[in-house]
Amino acid sequence: MSISLDFNESDYEVRTLTLDGITIRFRAFEDRVYVEHPVDAEHQKLNLYVPEEYYEGKTIHGYTGKTVPIFFSNASGAYASGPADRPGPSFRLWAKGKPNGLFYALAAGFVVAAPGSRGRTVTDEKGRFLGCAPAHIVDLKAAVRYLRHNRDRIMGDPERIISNGTSAGGALSALLGTSGNSPVFEPYLKELGAAGERDDVYAASCFTPVMNLEHSDMAYEWMFHGVNHYELHIVKNVGGELLESWVKGDMTEEQQKESDILVARFADYVNGLGLKDEDGRELTLKEDGSGSFRDYVTGFVMASAQKALDEGADLSSMPWITVEDGRVTSLDLAAHARYATRMKQLPAFDQWDLGSPENELFGTADTRFQHFTQYGKEHSVVNGKLADPEVVAMMNPMTFVEDRACRHYRIRFGTLDRDTSMAISAIFAAALRRTGVEVDYAMPWEVPHAGDYEMDQLFAWIREIC
Ligand code: DHB
Repeated sequence: MSISLDFNESDYEVRTLTLDGITIRFRAFEDRVYVEHPVDAEHQKLNLYVPEEYYEGKTIHGYTGKTVPIFFSNASGAYASGPADRPGPSFRLWAKGKPNGLFYALAAGFVVAAPGSRGRTVTDEKGRFLGCAPAHIVDLKAAVRYLRHNRDRIMGDPERIISNGTSAGGALSALLGTSGNSPVFEPYLKELGAAGERDDVYAASCFTPVMNLEHSDMAYEWMFHGVNHYELHIVKNVGGELLESWVKGDMTEEQQKESDILVARFADYVNGLGLKDEDGRELTLKEDGSGSFRDYVTGFVMASAQKALDEGADLSSMPWITVEDGRVTSLDLAAHARYATRMKQLPAFDQWDLGSPENELFGTADTRFQHFTQYGKEHSVVNGKLADPEVVAMMNPMTFVEDRACRHYRIRFGTLDRDTSMAISAIFAAALRRTGVEVDYAMPWEVPHAGDYEMDQLFAWIREIC
């Protein structure tokens, strides 16, 4: 099967949609397969939405249909397959039925591209796994190339693609941002028949990027060291019915001892990065997890608390925050972690029984679950195999930061997010800044694991950089 990559611009529907008191009118171009030889046409396709005003020759915020940035928002979660999404109520449980980011982006006048991508759950008819790493990012790159290939057939400027995503999708957005045109993906793209175009994006918006997975176990222990009770609340939507369950308990003595070891290893990792804060101070850690890197991360939480205080929040019930004359002057990060609570037991990502979504992400076509750290492999209780380190590196935005990072990043990680350590996004922000690119990084106060919030601020940032 070979599919034409030429976008059929005459096949569309004009739709009107009212949500949240806002009415939008737009052209919907849906189900466009973006590779010539799809292996999973259900996911290897995108939807494109364009505000109708551009076809009437109007401008929005000074943009014409040819200059307007393309809001390229993936819907990947938990490294499962991401659907080519549509503007409407969000399917994310944490959004509680509120309109999704695609809707607000259209309302704000952007062209919206919603790419699907394969994820760890896809199999072919022989039961082989089609969506293990690096399938997700290969597909998203193919979608970017498809938009470039069709620059004369679509509205929106393919040189102003703003990638967006949340959690696993935030990690993929970060990866699109840092790995543009890397030759390591070329064989995969070629095999799928992706367009022969560039795949760099202009900017990346990353909500809670669950990234840098091979260092996430250590970072998690550094964050939640000493918090030995864990609670994971699972809500599953089964045919419209929400089924709740809990995984909770206390870490064993062995896990607590391993936590000490991982904290020390995290210090080695951070010290090896050679990062600096904005004032040029070296970001380092001692074996016990204290040091200037800890102060640097604490600074983001303090800035967040300060902003909340300035906006009228009452912090008096939080004795681990010191406020003097309206200024947040100190914050105990360990106490904050106890307050936030631990979600995942050790090891949070590369699990010894291969039980995490990430173990499945790093499987192969024939081996469903694999380890992706030497540490995990050494502790395996199921004699698991170790993933190819080159494939693990391909999924990590950090791999490409020095060489090919795009110029603009916006990263958000809520102070109550427990799905990964706040250190992960803080490291990413510092590594990016070192290369001289622009990074807007903040930790919104009391925000749990979530994305596509404060969209007006995101859109203002996009207009500023475009
Ligand atoms: C996501 C959440 C996780 O806890 C994780 O380990 C990976 C991905 C997510 O929400 O996408």
